[in-house]
Amino acid sequence: MWMRWSAAMSRALYGPHGFFVSGAGPAGHFRTSATASPVLARAVARLLARVDEALGRPDRLDLVDVGAGRGELITGVLAAAPPALRTRVRAVAVELAPRPAFLPSEIDWRHSPPHRITGLLIATEWLDNVPLDVVVGDRYVEVEPPTGEEHLGGPTEPADAAWLDRWWPPLLCSHGRITGSDPTGDAPMAAEQDGPVAAEARREVGRSRDEAWAGAVGAVERGLAVAVDYGHLRDDRPFDGTLTGYVQGRQVTPVPDGTRDVTAHVAMDSVAVAGSAVAGRPYQLMSQRQALRALGADGGRPPIRLASTDPAGYVRALAAASAAAELTARGGLGDHWWLVQPVGIDGWAWDDGGYVGSP
Ligand SMILES: C[S@@+](CC[C@H](N)C(=O)[O-])C[C@H]1O[C@@H](n2cnc3c(N)ncnc32)[C@H](O)[C@@H]1O
Repeated sequence: MWMRWSAAMSRALYGPHGFFVSGAGPAGHFRTSATASPVLARAVARLLARVDEALGRPDRLDLVDVGAGRGELITGVLAAAPPALRTRVRAVAVELAPRPAFLPSEIDWRHSPPHRITGLLIATEWLDNVPLDVVVGDRYVEVEPPTGEEHLGGPTEPADAAWLDRWWPPLLCSHGRITGSDPTGDAPMAAEQDGPVAAEARREVGRSRDEAWAGAVGAVERGLAVAVDYGHLRDDRPFDGTLTGYVQGRQVTPVPDGTRDVTAHVAMDSVAVAGSAVAGRPYQLMSQRQALRALGADGGRPPIRLASTDPAGYVRALAAASAAAELTARGGLGDHWWLVQPVGIDGWAWDDGGYVGSP
């Protein structure tokens, strides 16, 4: 049976016996920032403390992890949070997979986010697994799930065509060199073409991710919503898209048969604008490298004199630095994007730069 990629991804990842809702969970198949080491959890615990300050230390501080895997990150954040703060935290893991048996009872487990969140909502490597459609020219690509074979299906629906016009016009798939750097998509793009326009290149329709993120931001009443993922911006969309598969640590063909992860990079700028429209406030977009440095995990080596004064402390600091270095590495996890979206709080200061954009 042929179907569009969004339907095929939904079935393969989240249907009965779907890849993410049965079996070992994501950590059994690939390494994410959340599962690689405790570095991300500690940094998020520090971020949670900053959000707590900005909110004036509410009686109940929400910590909501969307796309929580098997609860690795949220468990680590709670473990790293100072006791005085932890007693006020209401921790909620939002996941389509069933609750893991070993999860601490203090963590609530739900299939959708709670409403009226006051605190921090974080989603690491969630949006890249939100199902999406693939288009060639102005027609959807259809796939046969058991084989992964593809053919062209029906014409692109108006809402998807409008999204593509704004966020991934076919021009950006040309061999031409594109100039301009307005991640909001509002400014006209300048293009210098030095090759033929490949109008038939594959493009991935990020509208479903925009809607998913807008829904998550809409659940926050006051606080911060943060999406961390691999992605791209409008003036740097990858030629022919990014749809791919992963299984047991290997990158494989994206056959949507339930045996593997099927993922595509996130159009971070369009997601940002969608979230910002809901929040009514500017967003901030930065690399994981910038974000983790701002949160005190910079991957720098400890001073060598520590080796003689406190050898055990030096070894611990060295191990922590090398774990942080993995998460901040150029060409690796450090290139992931952090989309930081304040909701209902003014004067949120993230002092380490990044691009600031408006709704
Ligand atoms: C790549 S894994 C990331 C897991 C974890 N956040 C990490 O970084 O290691 C994506 C997870 O998002 C979950 N997910 C996808 N769509 C979801 C939705 N609409 N609601 C809740 N969880 C979802 C999947 O089941 C999967 O466990």
